[in-house]
Amino acid sequence: MSFYQDYNDKLAIEGWNTRELSQYQTFDLKRLSPALGAEIRGVDLSQPLPPAQLAEIRQALTEHLVLTFPSQAINAEQHKAFGRLFGSLHQHVLGDSTQLTARSGDAEILGWKTGRTTRYTAGDAWHNDVSCDPHPIWASFLRVTRLPEVGGGDTAFANLYLAYESLSEPIKQLLLGLTAVHDGREGWSNGYGAEPKPGQVFNASEHPVVAKHPVSGRPFLFVNEAFTSHIVQLSRAESDALLQLLYRHIEKHQSFQARIHWQPDMLLLWDNWATQHHAIWDYYPFERWGERVSAYLDHGPQPAGSIISQQ
Ligand SMILES: [Fe+2]
Repeated sequence: MSFYQDYNDKLAIEGWNTRELSQYQTFDLKRLSPALGAEIRGVDLSQPLPPAQLAEIRQALTEHLVLTFPSQAINAEQHKAFGRLFGSLHQHVLGDSTQLTARSGDAEILGWKTGRTTRYTAGDAWHNDVSCDPHPIWASFLRVTRLPEVGGGDTAFANLYLAYESLSEPIKQLLLGLTAVHDGREGWSNGYGAEPKPGQVFNASEHPVVAKHPVSGRPFLFVNEAFTSHIVQLSRAESDALLQLLYRHIEKHQSFQARIHWQPDMLLLWDNWATQHHAIWDYYPFERWGERVSAYLDHGPQPAGSIISQQ
């Protein structure tokens, strides 16, 4: 055994892999990796979902964080209708920008086309989608409408429950009660060179560094390198150092991660609070196109301190 507390990640994984999981009656579910992800077959997203099936999809999302739905040749309205079952549909501030995106003509669909002339593509780094919003996107629903001929273009995900649980107790205690600012300028101005339209500002919001999942009640780490600018209660040097520690912690633990490999007509649904993702741009100069619908709740992440102190 190491002199260091380096087995915390194994303890976290043990807890995750030995938890009790639901049996599903209304579809077939196959786990995609130990850390996260499940494939669901036997659902038709082009039709209204029976309430029992929707309830089981919600439960599967809670348990597995990332769900793939293969062979769903749905149109834009069906894509949005599925998203609407999980919250209010998000309208992206850069949705009609050509700097990052391909205009979809629909404010509730974020479209993009990455190819030879693209200099930045959305999501090519670890992030939560649009965490600068006061009510950050809760669930995202992604279709890739053109896949690169050379393969690649996977989406990698990281489990933020495991990221939190695998930290040592002193660091966990330090993080409880802290809040961080998530600023759209970090992701879009500094990251992509995108600027808001005249008279508009990008959102900046303060969120707990450790948040409580609204469905599972589990604590998860909620800072990301794309949007988080600083931890409010710390000095700049302390904040920079602590955030770097947490970012490296999330990205280096491949045992907390899984890569989703795309297939034509697949729909991908993820919990955008308890996971981060990274759209891997390994197919340059080939093309990859996609459309995202996202849903948000009527509240943002709540601090986890209260539930943890009860344990
Ligand atoms: Fe993203």
